Amino acid sequence: MNLLMICLTLLLSLQTSSCTPCKFPAIINFGDSNSDTGGLSATFGPAPPPNGETFFHMPAGRFSDGRLIIDFIAKSFGLAYLSAYLDSLGTNFSHGANFATAGSTIMQPSAPLNKGGYSPFSLQVQVSQFAQFKSRSQMISKKGKVFKSLMPKKDYFKKALYTIDIGQNDLTELFFSNQSADDYIPLTMKVFSDVVEEVYKHGGRYFWIHNTGPLGCLTYVLLRRPSSSMELDPVGCAVIFNKLAQKFNNMLNETVTQLRKDLPSATFIYVDVYSAKYNLFSKAEKYGFEKPLRTCCGYGGGEYNFDFNVRCGDKGIVEGEEVLLGKSCSHPEKSIIWDGVHYTEAANKWVFNEIATGKYSHPSLPLCKVCY
Ligand SMILES: *[C@@H]1O[C@H](CO)[C@@H](O)[C@H](O)[C@H]1NC(C)=O
Ligand SMILES: *[C@@H]1O[C@H](CO)[C@@H](O)[C@H](O)[C@H]1NC(C)=O
Ligand SMILES: *[C@@H]1O[C@H](CO)[C@@H](O)[C@H](O)[C@H]1NC(C)=O
Repeated sequence: MNLLMICLTLLLSLQTSSCTPCKFPAIINFGDSNSDTGGLSATFGPAPPPNGETFFHMPAGRFSDGRLIIDFIAKSFGLAYLSAYLDSLGTNFSHGANFATAGSTIMQPSAPLNKGGYSPFSLQVQVSQFAQFKSRSQMISKKGKVFKSLMPKKDYFKKALYTIDIGQNDLTELFFSNQSADDYIPLTMKVFSDVVEEVYKHGGRYFWIHNTGPLGCLTYVLLRRPSSSMELDPVGCAVIFNKLAQKFNNMLNETVTQLRKDLPSATFIYVDVYSAKYNLFSKAEKYGFEKPLRTCCGYGGGEYNFDFNVRCGDKGIVEGEEVLLGKSCSHPEKSIIWDGVHYTEAANKWVFNEIATGKYSHPSLPLCKVCY
């Protein structure tokens, strides 16, 4: 190691130690697939391989090759990865629970999942599950021994970090059902703030709220967009969808600002995940990624390597034999988009490292200081 390296290492360790992390004993998460650690898999069947291949070396309920932002958040506080509330096997809720499921919306879904709709576990359902979790976990805890060691302590509900990442599916729902964003988004905001107030009534005081990412950069939207909305930005993302996401985000930011006024004894951090993710797409090469809009685990090759009929993990019959068609690419660590809808572990880790600094947050607190 040369002198420069030593100095750099010292500087880095100083920076890290300058932030004595908050001691959140638990994390409670609400959301969609961006933070689902097994809810949908437990309910409707597991995410198939090659999901999970990079980190867990097997499917782990996440729609990614590895960990999600919520996993990196848990890790940064020294907590184990969150168990999905809906998972009845092998779960440990002593340090929190995850109510997110892939395909969840803020609004109640208009069609069921198997009819082209969304997850039945919309945000309000997740919060009613949370209310039940809070009371029943304490009853179970009283049985002592192993039961106690699997449940959060009573005071954790006041001390926990509450994280929320939802909205992406409401935007596709409203767009593809031709509803007006100006009518629809305010309805989602009403539900959002009702739900936060409900969590507050249950003791929640620390909220870390992600806005929604650049929807127009994701393959499943790029290939579904009607020809009347062809305009692409210089990065190759569909302008109309990113504008929609930004409109949602502006209203979310206003909603969070209002919540801060209404509930002054709680801390609300609004995290501009959109800008972090868009930065990654637009400067992909600089950060070690290749072909930012190309799906890693997909089918069909070409510019996007994505086929609506052959998704990541789908099998097919080739020459009389069943083979995996929706395969992983050879370098998921250089891809941003995993399966056309979700991000790779590498991208999630990059985004986590960016947002944890606080430079995308309002107020601009780093993640480790949210309790101050
Ligand atoms: C549950 O997790 C906690 C914290 O990670 C650990 O201390 C406890 O032993 C676990 N319980 C069981 C039964 O594994
Ligand atoms: C929305 O509008 C497009 C274009 O006019 C049409 O093709 C599509 O069927 C409509 N979708 C719904 C759900 O009404
Ligand atoms: C969110 O709103 C605050 C005002 O409450 C503003 O200062 C901030 O710039 C907004 N953030 C974003 C990313 O729009």
